[in-house]
Amino acid sequence: MSVMKPAILVCRRVFPEVLERLREHFEVEGNDADVVWSRDELIAHLQGKAGVFVTGTQPVDSGLLDACPTLRAVCSMAVGYNNIDVAACTARGVLVSNAPDVLTETTADFGFALMMAAARRISESEHFLRRGEWTKWSVDLFAGADVHGATLGVLGMGRIGQAIARRGARGFAMPVLYHNRSRLDAAVEAELGARYVSKEALLAESDHLVIVVPYSAESHHLVGAAELRRMKAAATLTNIARGGIVDDAALARALREGTIAAAGLDVFEGEPAVYPDLLTLPNVVLTPHIASASLPTRKAMAQLAADNLIAALDARPGAKPPPTPLNPEVLARKV
Ligand code: DGY
Repeated sequence: MSVMKPAILVCRRVFPEVLERLREHFEVEGNDADVVWSRDELIAHLQGKAGVFVTGTQPVDSGLLDACPTLRAVCSMAVGYNNIDVAACTARGVLVSNAPDVLTETTADFGFALMMAAARRISESEHFLRRGEWTKWSVDLFAGADVHGATLGVLGMGRIGQAIARRGARGFAMPVLYHNRSRLDAAVEAELGARYVSKEALLAESDHLVIVVPYSAESHHLVGAAELRRMKAAATLTNIARGGIVDDAALARALREGTIAAAGLDVFEGEPAVYPDLLTLPNVVLTPHIASASLPTRKAMAQLAADNLIAALDARPGAKPPPTPLNPEVLARKV
């Protein structure tokens, strides 16, 4: 007797091997055209679905959940989950998962690269060369700031912040300062070679500040005009966390006026739109939210979301729990 497979929706185009794996377990509706659906379109596609594979960009809130009463699992291939109202999911018995760990080192590599590109003026000088403006060697041509030995500031010392701190301390002999909601254990601080300081001290003392805090109401515009004024004029700021943590308008002003020297931004408030002034400034390196985008890591993120979805909708007694749930209390209630 054939058993009906649960129906799921995969919101964006994903790797064929991930879709294939999901098809072994589910009736899968995909989105091979990679259309960015409106909220109403998403709700329409979700009708009758037991699970949904999302990325970090589809908002899942109480209104959407109420409009999609068959939904039992929301599994994201992103580590950041500010697009999902986890409490609303929990209240309705909907399991939520994200994709931590698998992207940590890749994202830290990129954060470091972006910080170095800003400090050493890599994009700015490349554009100059491509425009055909390089006619002679000069003693101070695109002279920037050193990274090795400079003070690295990490705002948000979770897994990715720690991986960045390790790179700075061990690879580049950087004194590392950090600020976080909670202080790390002394043993972890020692292993990382990182010193806890207040947010004010972090801003004032860092030569290169890297922002890796999750986005929430509390972290909205955590770095604005007042914070930028506390930073050194020669400092750089790198944001690989989420748009909206930095006030992009204030940052553009600070970069234009020389309040700080340079910035590296992978995330933007209201992305994919970018605050227009940033596009006109030479001293900011801009990338389209690709910090986790190495091919092996993006595949691992997608496979982890698939693992979570398969386990979350596995109704067999004794089935393995999803590997990275955000609201495991939903699973406990089902037992
Ligand atoms: C994440 O995983 O949160 C990355 O920012 C990609 O969305």
